[in-house]
Amino acid sequence: MHASDIEGDLTEVLVTESEIHAKLAELARRIEADYEGRDLLLVGVLKGAVMVMADLARELRPHLNMDWMAVSSYGAGTQSSGVVKILKDLDTDLTGRDVLIVEDIIDSGLTLSWLLENLRSRGAASVEVCALLRKPDAAKVEVDVRYLGFDIPNQFVVGYGLDYAERYRNLRDVAILAPHVYS
Ligand code: PRP
Repeated sequence: MHASDIEGDLTEVLVTESEIHAKLAELARRIEADYEGRDLLLVGVLKGAVMVMADLARELRPHLNMDWMAVSSYGAGTQSSGVVKILKDLDTDLTGRDVLIVEDIIDSGLTLSWLLENLRSRGAASVEVCALLRKPDAAKVEVDVRYLGFDIPNQFVVGYGLDYAERYRNLRDVAILAPHVYS
């Protein structure tokens, strides 16, 4: 889906598909250099990270492994509470592994901060984070992100994996959703 297909639903395209791909290529070169000679395990957080994972993994040139987690945060409405429930756990034993968590967005930071602690407690050699988007103005906890795509304003964004009511994930760009859609 292109932004032009749903123009009336969006107020602004924040990050275009080509800007995303250029940024992922840049991050992939840094990741390749940092993990040279090591076996990297990418951990994608369902469902939002599917697009980032697919494009980042294909951009990376060495062999790697991919695994997935699904988590849900207990909280009122759309707000994260920091209390996280594992809906689907990893299939991989993390003992001694170099783990890179792949996320679409860091909003409050609560999900990722919980996930970092959880994965680090499983005996991994290292656990780092790659996130395409971050909303600095929404942060409730600071998360140490080693590989970051873009800082964006604290607006309701959709696309490239990010949804509103499970729609818009297949939009190619990241865009601000028009208020009339959700109000
Ligand atoms: C989104 C996103 C992160 C989390 C970030 O997932 O993919 O996992 O929210 O929010 P936080 O920084 O405030 O914790 P969501 O719970 O919307 O699920 P989804 O990926 O299935 O859409």
